[in-house]
Amino acid sequence: MDNKQSKDFLEQRAWLSSICDTQSTEELEKKYASWANSYDTDVQKDWSFMPVAIAKTLSKLLLDKHCSILDAGAGTGLVGEALAKEGYTNLTAVDLSEQMLAIAKEKQVYQYLFQGNLEDSSIFNNSENFDVIITAGVFAYGHAGVEVLNNLFPFLKEEGIFLLTIREDYRKQIQTPLDQLSWQLISEEAFPIYDEAKLMYLLTFKKG
Ligand SMILES: C[S@@+](CC[C@H](N)C(=O)[O-])C[C@H]1O[C@@H](n2cnc3c(N)ncnc32)[C@H](O)[C@@H]1O
Repeated sequence: MDNKQSKDFLEQRAWLSSICDTQSTEELEKKYASWANSYDTDVQKDWSFMPVAIAKTLSKLLLDKHCSILDAGAGTGLVGEALAKEGYTNLTAVDLSEQMLAIAKEKQVYQYLFQGNLEDSSIFNNSENFDVIITAGVFAYGHAGVEVLNNLFPFLKEEGIFLLTIREDYRKQIQTPLDQLSWQLISEEAFPIYDEAKLMYLLTFKKG
């Protein structure tokens, strides 16, 4: 990318640097609150392929369409929509932002939706667990890190499936914690994203 292309790229995606350059959870919540109404339109070009890829990957691995799926950091529900199109029926959405969840609710694909911070270790009670946990666009700069990974892991059933997206530069930062959990990487897909100089990975792990 030359300088002009790079400038155009950033001008067309002012939201990208804004959300990644976030210093606290409170700040992130406010940014998503004000972004919620235009999120789906703004990310259409760069991101809409990913929820579809997630749903397709899951459908190759799990034929039971009634399995319990947690969409952690569900945002406006793009992943839920793609999962519903594949026939999945038992979807729970959690997100920091009430405003993002309000858009997700309108899509009528989640059985349960609730506001919560994935960094909070008491976000779920101990009796709750899921066949599948998905985090799409959540492990990213200014967003979730290792504590979220470690908080979610106990709520995945044995032999459950965890799908996460992560950009290659951020992946390097949490590769060690990813390797330390008791699960196996069963699928790794790589997609060029944004300026195409970086890859976005869709990683699928199986617990146990
Ligand atoms: C880039 S958006 C992705 C939304 C959706 N998964 C998608 O694929 O379109 C990231 C979402 O993660 C949520 N998020 C980030 N950190 C979070 C946290 N600590 N707890 C709960 N949600 C969080 C944000 O509120 C936002 O809705």
